[in-house]
Amino acid sequence: MLSKEQNDRLTQVGPGTPCGELMRRYWIPIAPSAQLLENPVRKVRILGEDLVLYKDTSGGLGLIGDRCLHRNVDLQFGIPDKCGLRCPYHGWLFDETGKCVERPMEGAPQAEIKQKLKGYPVQEMGGLVFAYMGPLPAPDLPRWDLFVWPNSIRQIGLTVIDCNWLQCQENTGDPTHSAWAHGHLFEYELSRNGKLDERSSDNLHTLHQRKRVGVGIKEIYASQTEHGFRKGIRYSKDLGADADKDVEHSTVIFPFYTQTGKTGAPRSEYQIRVPIDDTHTYHICYQCYAAPPGVEAPEQDVVPYYIPPTHDDTGRPILDYVLAQDAIVWVAQGPIADRTTELLGRTDIPIVVLRRQLDEQIKRVEQGLEPMNYFQKSPDIIHPLGSAPDYDKPESLNKHGFRKYYHKGFANDDADRYGPLIETVKDLHRAIEDFEIRRAAGQQRDPAHA
Ligand code: FES
Ligand SMILES: [Fe+2]
Repeated sequence: MLSKEQNDRLTQVGPGTPCGELMRRYWIPIAPSAQLLENPVRKVRILGEDLVLYKDTSGGLGLIGDRCLHRNVDLQFGIPDKCGLRCPYHGWLFDETGKCVERPMEGAPQAEIKQKLKGYPVQEMGGLVFAYMGPLPAPDLPRWDLFVWPNSIRQIGLTVIDCNWLQCQENTGDPTHSAWAHGHLFEYELSRNGKLDERSSDNLHTLHQRKRVGVGIKEIYASQTEHGFRKGIRYSKDLGADADKDVEHSTVIFPFYTQTGKTGAPRSEYQIRVPIDDTHTYHICYQCYAAPPGVEAPEQDVVPYYIPPTHDDTGRPILDYVLAQDAIVWVAQGPIADRTTELLGRTDIPIVVLRRQLDEQIKRVEQGLEPMNYFQKSPDIIHPLGSAPDYDKPESLNKHGFRKYYHKGFANDDADRYGPLIETVKDLHRAIEDFEIRRAAGQQRDPAHA
């Protein structure tokens, strides 16, 4: 349980708020690059600020305030120029710093005007546009591994979630929700629609795997790491689990990422919970499908994006895939979850760790220090899980083994099924499976690998 003041401190993201100032120390993904190919000017709202993202005719990117200095016209209707964006009403030209550099029809010579629009640095990486909205100089754009991992194909799923970012991120600190939100709720949904047998006859099906998450729990663990924290569940055979074991859940990458699946695996993903404002979240599923050495992933010029639907044509929530199950419970906590009335239990230990970590990092910014994952100079590649994938031990990559079998029907359980690349991904998964079968057969024949 938190006090109202603590809850405000961790959830509010506008300019000048404690958490908002923390967020303004990071490069924030704000749009897929592919959207600028469709339309080079887009309105975006990030951290409670209304802005316009554009690509000018020289290929330069800008992110500036959305209202023209002249008479407040919305610049989402602006015209890209050689170096900047022109207002559609009287043609005032703004550069990427938000400075007005030309006012046609105002006569010459033109005095420089003091007023400026906001102007924030932007950069592209891995098919996403990132913005930095904090004090300059900006840090380096961190090269998190899924954005730059070679021999992979990628797609980006975008969902606007009608609630505060922190309840989406807290879900990442909650290993046991899987048993219900992705197990029992999934089963309930399929049986209500008469699809239980058709969709879940295989014992490997997501809902069966997830229901087993809840059986035989001895304790929940969580510990801080260099880039966030890791957490999971300790199981006991005495309590009904199939073995005494520790099972690690997805990794938390500070401040608003989580990673599911190992980097280099046939399917891994960053889920990124970007605050649009205090009551809306721009949820990005950054999906990466990597091929091992020996299999070639197809070339990709543009990383495509898609919008997984959360409701059907009748307005009823779609609940038969994992992200939609998460989304419904996040929104169902209210626009900003009231943490003054909650009743935490042992399953919430990682959530307490997450809140403490967030509060500690907010304090660092308040003290004028750099927070976690602020990189003056980014390494060429950063592995948030702590190490590079080891293709000599492919079993270490297959934490959620069923996700390398999208060609066998498992794509149906994830948002990925709506993605434009899904058939290409299935082909890739087929090729990886063939390769693994051939390799296993070769190893059996070769005594050196016995
Ligand atoms: S309102 Fe923008 S140039 Fe006049
Ligand atoms: Fe979930």
